[in-house]
Amino acid sequence: MSSQLSSTINSDQISAEAYRWIRDYIHQEAGIDIGLSRQMLVIARLRKRLASCKLNSFDEYIHLLADPVNTFERQAAIDLLSTNETYFFRESQHLDVLREKVLKTHPRKQPLRLWSAASSSGEEAYTIAMVLSEHYGYSFDWKIFGSDVSERVVKQAQTGLYPLQRIDAISEEYRKLYCLKGIGKYNGYFLIDNRLRDRCRFEVVNLVKPLPDLGQFEVIFFRNALIYFDDETKELIIRALLAKLSAGGLLFIGHSESLKRMDLPLETIAPAAYRKLESEA
Ligand SMILES: C[S@@+](CC[C@H](N)C(=O)[O-])C[C@H]1O[C@@H](n2cnc3c(N)ncnc32)[C@H](O)[C@@H]1O
Repeated sequence: MSSQLSSTINSDQISAEAYRWIRDYIHQEAGIDIGLSRQMLVIARLRKRLASCKLNSFDEYIHLLADPVNTFERQAAIDLLSTNETYFFRESQHLDVLREKVLKTHPRKQPLRLWSAASSSGEEAYTIAMVLSEHYGYSFDWKIFGSDVSERVVKQAQTGLYPLQRIDAISEEYRKLYCLKGIGKYNGYFLIDNRLRDRCRFEVVNLVKPLPDLGQFEVIFFRNALIYFDDETKELIIRALLAKLSAGGLLFIGHSESLKRMDLPLETIAPAAYRKLESEA
């Protein structure tokens, strides 16, 4: 009884040293800046790892994280400390910009590749896929690559299966075309149509580490992720993304985010939407 009591107490507290260590760790591993005083958030999100690993305190937990061989725990901490909120048709003004500036003008003989670069559980990528499918159908070569640092959300995106409440953000017309209501053990869920799933691929990509060979993209969506990074990391990531964006290609960020003071080879074409300058190919 007394040991149960002490373990409960210790997973409700975090020492200043353990907090600082975890803050530096998540910054180093994923670029995420959790700030100086989010102790309650760290406790709430990581408490279950202490219980699973049968540890009594965060001081013990950081020893697990510090072990470079323990990649499982590293991924578990990243999964829990990243904020993955997303929904279908988020900031849908950007979809009009996409229709106007890309879909109407892109020559059909050239493949069209789009990247949802912090895709979370895939809603952004599948939203874009619905818009592309409506415009082009499936006769022409368009593809969407979705990536995220969190393995947990990438796995969810790969399934294309979502709780039914999330369908509310999708129009009736698109629901009929692209969403299949689950039955039996999938009751309460819906599945994205397999023709869309075939056009979307999801992988774990950590944007603060050297990027794998992904090829070039005509459009990159990097929305509602910049807010989690400090200024230096923001610029590092944006420059890495721009290296993967074709000249004349479009970059979208979240409407509450900004690229101020970065001196980038971009022109603004709409709120939170930019075109990469041709001369910077
Ligand atoms: C709030 S979600 C945004 C999802 C979607 N883009 C949207 O606008 O709805 C932010 C995502 O950024 C991801 N993220 C954070 N750090 C990252 C990194 N270093 N590399 C790749 N993704 C990262 C998080 O895991 C999270 O899923």
